[in-house]
Amino acid sequence: MGIKKAVIPAAGWGTRFLPITKAIPKEMLPLLNKPIIQYCIEEATACGVEQVVIITASGKNSIEDYFDSDFELESMLEQKGETRLLEKVRYVSNLADIGYIRQRVQLGLGHAVLTVKNMIGNEPFFLMLPDDIFENKEFVLKEMIRIHESYQCSVVAVKRIAREEINRYGIVACKKVAERVYKVSDLIEKPEADEAPSDFAIMGRYLLAPEIFECINKTKPGRNGEIQLTDALKRLIRHYPLYAYEFEGERWDAGTPAGWLETTITLALKEPSTGPRLRNYLNKQLKK
Ligand code: UTP
Repeated sequence: MGIKKAVIPAAGWGTRFLPITKAIPKEMLPLLNKPIIQYCIEEATACGVEQVVIITASGKNSIEDYFDSDFELESMLEQKGETRLLEKVRYVSNLADIGYIRQRVQLGLGHAVLTVKNMIGNEPFFLMLPDDIFENKEFVLKEMIRIHESYQCSVVAVKRIAREEINRYGIVACKKVAERVYKVSDLIEKPEADEAPSDFAIMGRYLLAPEIFECINKTKPGRNGEIQLTDALKRLIRHYPLYAYEFEGERWDAGTPAGWLETTITLALKEPSTGPRLRNYLNKQLKK
């Protein structure tokens, strides 16, 4: 049956990129040759998602403009015979059936997810945080669907992290049930390393049962006064199974200036049209 809907929260302030994010949404910053958020949408559509819902906020209109058709631009390119550019422009506006909803006040990721309740209805859906870029692209989501179908459960993507990174992530307590698959028994948002139940951190991809909305509704503001998705998941597992998928391959965090730069360089080195030249350039710079 697969998963037909994906939700991408993009209503956050993007404070770590201020002051750029006063005028440009973090999700629209370019990673090599396309905006950060496009990676997520391509990943979703490649594994059968038909409808994408983007959660936005004021000042984020450029996301809608980017994925919309631009009749004037297209006819100008057509008249000039710029066929390749026209294809590129049309590719973006035909990527997916995208809907938008505004989170009027930024009260946290859990609160953001609640805004899509009526658009999702009573079916499981993907929640994808756009800052997280995966080396194995849609393979992560495909495995999550497989686990969801085998165990009739919600699924989170996890990765083992270093001790000093633990207080930046949602951490799960879990028990192995199969190769790379774990049953989750508890979750804690950004614990201190000494209080963490494991070193498995949740990494920006969730396959959620619609019961999550009810759980978010009952969740009180937690860390930083925000309604935390991790707290709602903690409530979900009282009644509904949650499994963790330890994905293979790398994941890059494009959500901080340093992480964004590392992700850009990594992708550019892998890309045949830029890789050799950049490698050469970096080698020269490193010798200085
Ligand atoms: P982050 O913690 O990365 O926050 O949110 P942020 O605003 O994007 O960036 P910083 O920390 O201020 O630099 C994780 C995801 O949840 C979304 C964000 O857009 C991001 O995709 N989010 C967060 C919302 O949609 N609404 C919120 O109220 C909070």
